[in-house]
Amino acid sequence: MTSPIKLCKGGELLDRILSRGGKYSEEDAKIIMVQILSVVAYCHFQGVVHRDLKPENFLFTSKDESSPLKAIDFGLSDYVKPDERLNDIVGSAYYVAPEVLHRSYGAEADMWSIGVIAYILLCGSRPFWSRTESGIFRAVLKADPSFDEDPWPSLSSDAVDFVKRLLNKDYRKRLTAVQALSHPWLASHHDVKVPVDMITYKLVRAYIYSSSLRKTALRALAKTLAIPHLSYLREQFGLLGPNKSGFISLHNFKMAVAKNSTEAMKDSRVLDYVNMVSSLQYRKLDFEEYCAAAVSVYQLEGMESWEQHARRAYEFFEKDGNRAIMIEELASELGLSPSVPIHVVLQDWIRHSDGKLSFVGFVRLLHGVSSRSLQKA
Ligand SMILES: *[C@@H]1O[C@H](CO)[C@@H](O)[C@H](O)[C@H]1NC(C)=O
Ligand SMILES: *[C@@H]1O[C@H](CO)[C@@H](O)[C@H](O)[C@H]1NC(C)=O
Repeated sequence: MTSPIKLCKGGELLDRILSRGGKYSEEDAKIIMVQILSVVAYCHFQGVVHRDLKPENFLFTSKDESSPLKAIDFGLSDYVKPDERLNDIVGSAYYVAPEVLHRSYGAEADMWSIGVIAYILLCGSRPFWSRTESGIFRAVLKADPSFDEDPWPSLSSDAVDFVKRLLNKDYRKRLTAVQALSHPWLASHHDVKVPVDMITYKLVRAYIYSSSLRKTALRALAKTLAIPHLSYLREQFGLLGPNKSGFISLHNFKMAVAKNSTEAMKDSRVLDYVNMVSSLQYRKLDFEEYCAAAVSVYQLEGMESWEQHARRAYEFFEKDGNRAIMIEELASELGLSPSVPIHVVLQDWIRHSDGKLSFVGFVRLLHGVSSRSLQKA
């Protein structure tokens, strides 16, 4: 979108897929994925959602298989800030994300479409299929794509995990484009320079507004993170430009984006969002606290290993942060409004034996609570 329109002689990605009888080797699929994700990561950084990602919209710039792919047809693209939701249904049926059909979506919808493309590249068939459009929509909303049939059992577990984490129906659990580039399936296969991941701004903002109890819980959770996740966070932390002793201030959050800001970012008002986050009052963060602030509980929950993370985090929390707490104190710590019937909604958050936070309470606390979400529950 930033380059002038070029004539692409290479042909559509879709033609290539069809001419191969459908399937790509993992190695070839990785090359395509890295290219698509680099384009999309940069779009999302600028607050641009494509909204119509599909193989038809990628062109090779030459006949050579490893030639750069170019995304075309931004006709349906739109601007979106990290805290905004779009609501018009656009895109192509086979690639449309469930939350688009529910008319409330953001950049994560593109990641779903990329998951569909990855699925097709690797196995040669569509994850959601039906003869009618309404049938496809039903499948997108309700059906789980199959990973049992050939060739899935013979593909690497990293490949399967990659696709599953894009095709998660809960958009909050999906990988971002930057995270997808850092996923073990791809990370060692490219030297793409990733941009700042906008999800970080959202997560850090929520962290700053959290109660001290939730911050302690998130710190315990961050201690359970494994290498792939930590290297993604390490890279993002580096982009924020820590000082020599390894601290960042919220001002760094603005500087990191200002360096690479574009015209599109002004139009998308992403810069407004970035400025708003960087003007919050908060002390400087070292890497350890940054991890607690920038870890997404929902995304961890989308991993097979979530239960172990949560259990281990609770053990850390028991050692470092758990204490006896009264329901009233917990409610005020959480900032619940007086209209919430706290004795009903919070009773299983507290362990009867010693009055400390229970595992259930700990996990709910990690997710963050608001009076509104509790009243619904
Ligand atoms: C951002 O800008 C800096 C300095 O101009 C540059 O070195 C870096 O590569 C840019 N990052 C991205 C992701 O474009
Ligand atoms: C980095 O920031 C921390 C926290 O404000 C401060 O204590 C430290 O002196 C700074 N280090 C350098 C080298 O500026």
